[in-house]
This record gives sequence, C-alpha cells and structure tokens, in this order.
Amino acid sequence: MSKIWTKKPMSAFEDDMKSSQLKRVLGKWSLTAIGIGAIIGGGIFVLTGTGAYYHAGPALALSFVIAGIACVFAALCYSEFASILPVEGSAYAYAYGTVGEIFAWIIGWGLILEYAMGSMTVAVSWSGYFNKLLKMFGIHLPDYLTSDPASYTGDGFSMNLPAFLIVLFVISILIKGTKEAAKANNLIVIMKVSAVLFVIIAGAFFINVENWNPFIPAARMVQEGENMKEAYGIQGIVSGAAAIFFAYVGFDAVSTQAGEAINPKKDVPFAIIVSLLVCTALYILVSLVLTGMMHYSDFDPQGKYPDAIKAPVAYAFEIAEQGWAGYIITIAATVGLVSVLMVMIMGQSRIFLGMSKDGLIPKMFSDLHPVKKTPAKSLMLLGVLIATVAAFTPISKLADMTSFGTLFAFTMVCIAVWILRKKEPNLQRNFKVPALPVIATLGICINLYLIWNLSHEAKYLSIGWLVLGVLIYFTYSLRNSKLHKAGYGETFKAEQKPLQDVDVDIDNEK
Ligand code: ALA
Repeated sequence: MSKIWTKKPMSAFEDDMKSSQLKRVLGKWSLTAIGIGAIIGGGIFVLTGTGAYYHAGPALALSFVIAGIACVFAALCYSEFASILPVEGSAYAYAYGTVGEIFAWIIGWGLILEYAMGSMTVAVSWSGYFNKLLKMFGIHLPDYLTSDPASYTGDGFSMNLPAFLIVLFVISILIKGTKEAAKANNLIVIMKVSAVLFVIIAGAFFINVENWNPFIPAARMVQEGENMKEAYGIQGIVSGAAAIFFAYVGFDAVSTQAGEAINPKKDVPFAIIVSLLVCTALYILVSLVLTGMMHYSDFDPQGKYPDAIKAPVAYAFEIAEQGWAGYIITIAATVGLVSVLMVMIMGQSRIFLGMSKDGLIPKMFSDLHPVKKTPAKSLMLLGVLIATVAAFTPISKLADMTSFGTLFAFTMVCIAVWILRKKEPNLQRNFKVPALPVIATLGICINLYLIWNLSHEAKYLSIGWLVLGVLIYFTYSLRNSKLHKAGYGETFKAEQKPLQDVDVDIDNEK
C-alpha cells in the first residue's frame, strides 16, 4: 500500500522536461491571452442576474471581489508551482511531486470535471448563443437539431448539432498546432475584451444610482424554483460568490501550457496573475453597471421581466431601449465561447499528456503528431467524446460539477505548495507566494466554503466521480505507473538540488 504514496522525484520532472517534444512557442502575452480566453465566456453574461436576484443584490460586485480573491490565492499558489515545475500536468503534476501518486491521480481525475466536462457545458452554451444569433438574423434551426434527446419535446430523432460541430471545429484548430491555436485565441480575446469594455462604457450612461440603494439589501427569503432560500445581507454576498464562481473558471488552464511556454518559469506565473486581475476588474465593473442599470428585484422570474434573469446583461440594454447592444453581446459571447472551448480542450489534452507520460493512463494520450507535435490522437478521442456528450445529453444542468473540479484542484494546490515549501525550502523558486501560511490557509478555507455552497446534486455526483477514479487507479493506474516500474516503490525524497534550466528547442513567437 505504501506504493500509492510514491512521490515523483524532481529529477524525473527534469528528465521529462528535457525529453519533451512539445514545441515551445508561447510567449508571455500569448499565455496571458490563453488565461483571458479561458475565463471570459458565457458566465459573466448569464450568471450575473442569478447572483443579483437570488444572492447579493447590488452587492454582487462584492461577490465578484470575494470569488476573485479566492482565485487570487489559488493563482499565487499555482504560480509558485509553475515557477518550480514548468510541466504540462498542472495541479496533477504538482501533487505528484509533493503529496503522492494517489492524490495526484485523484486531482487529475477531478480535473476532467473542470476541463472535459467544462468543455461539454461550454459547447452547449455556445450552441444556445449561436442559435440566438441566427434568430437575430431571421434564421431558425428546427428544434430537433438544437436539442439533446432528453430535452427535446417532439417525437423522433434529435441532437444538438451546433454543439457537436463546434467541438469538431475547435479540435481541428488544436490539432494543427499550438501556435495556430494561440493566434486564433489572441484574436478572439481582443474581440471579447473589447465587447466587455463596450458593455461597461455604454452601460455606464444608463446607470440610475438609486438602483444601488441599499447596496447590501437586508436579508430576506426569496423563492427559487420550489424552495424558499435566504438572500441578501452578508451571507448573500458570500453565497453569491459561489453562484458566480463559474465565470472565473479557466485561469489555471495557463498552467497546463507550461510545456509549450518559451520561458515557463517566469511567464506562466505572470500570465496566471495578470489574466486573473484583468478579468476580476472587468467582472466587478460589469456587475456594477448591470445592477445600476436594472434594479436587482427586476430579475425576479415571477416579476414583470420574467426572462431577464436568463440573459441579464442583454436584457438590461433592451429595457434601456438600446436593443442593438443585444447583438454585440450575443456576437461577443458566441465568438468568445469558442476560445473558452479551445483552451479547455487544450488544457485537458495536456493534463492527459502528463498522466500518460507517467503511465497512469494509456500511452496513446501522450503520442504526439510527428509533424505538428500536438497530442493529435488524444485530441481526436476527446473531440468525439465531448462532441457526442454535448450533442446527446442534458449536460448543461451539471455545470456546477465543473466548479467542483476546479475548486477541488485549487484546494489541493494550496495544500501542496505549502508542503513543498516545508519539505524542500531550498528549491529554486522564481516566484514565491508572500506570507504563504496565511494565503494558503485562506485559499483552502474559501475554496472549501465555495464547494460547500455548490448544489447538492453537483456535490454528490462529483464525489461519485472521484470514487470511480479511485477504483480505476487501483485496477489500472497503480499497475502501470512508470515510477513503480522504475523501482520507486517507497516514498522518494525529492532532491535538494535546484532544477536546472532546461535546454529547449525554442521556436520563437513571431
Ligand atoms: N469562465 C468560463 C465562462 O464563464 C468558463 O464561460
């Protein structure tokens, strides 16, 4: 049993980095764009209404501050790790080097919820925005081509065809090469940040400051579906942070690209922190503008604007008789979600790459395309799987499981970075978390609290997923682990020497 606690020695990571065939093509701004590309998606345009009406009122901006702070704690911890171990496996690899194989496996398995499952839900939301866009231009796709069979109300065959096709389209870009994907991502990011800035600036003209008064409404009960729940007050601000957390999911994807970064030890920490700060600032401003344009109580689904909560930002502009903004938001979300999808699938394939190199999942996940040097087989398999689930199941109802997977990984990274600091204080660190015990403790507490506030369904299903992962570990991964095959049967003490700078074949960004 002691085998399951085996740690991957730093020298083995170093060997992995030296023998990696991935092309190092990502500079610091491309990495930052990957972070922003993954973060800004549908979340900010959709969840703000729920956050304002069911949780925080105008103080939704404070919910964004809290969720942002929770992410900053985790981001700092990710950054310290990325500055020591610039490898593609993200939190999985960090745990393997510090806590032990079983933990690393569980985290890697949990990350499937964040990345693969996140991709499925994002593909479905993309399909929703795409349909809306088509309708704006007078094109109506039949219901049987836009609904999964469980949600379809008619008879006969149905599938979510746009969700299926967008995944295949994204996969085709990802297989072509990381540089090509990064270029497409850069363009999309410029577009969507411009659209968000536009919403903030244009919306500011329609703010009625009376709507912010009181900024933190007194606690009271509101009806959500069948149930009554407490909203507003301080508790509402905190539960609001959990409700809108999905909008922040994605910044950690930067760490999955470390194997393709030109200067990973410096640029990955930079990109993680900058992308998160930029998005936090944008999110706070969007939520202030939204709750200034529309009174939070107007998002009541039983009230005078029953549909406002489904598309709050676009609706606020419609009420201000600026319907054109709806076009901009719909176009921004449709195009913007393509980059979320791209980064999430790319992130998943790189985590699988790391796990496969270690022998914990089959070798095909680490086979690289001979010319493009991308994990083409893994991407194709992921593409078929993600496209099929998105097209044929009501996956979007399970979006909270994506937040679970993310928060779980964040918590583990906060723990692991602390363990490594204690055990290996002399390792070379290009970035160090300031006041680590405080930051890590706060990070762990906030992340666990946010997990606690997720829906019960998501929590139970996610725990079931992790239990399934443990079974697979004992039946497959433990037997195939390369570390065990190489004779690291007992807990291995990581070497004290600093990681050497790795000689890599740099194909500079143009
Ligand atoms: N943060 C991403 C979104 O909001 C996943 O769509």
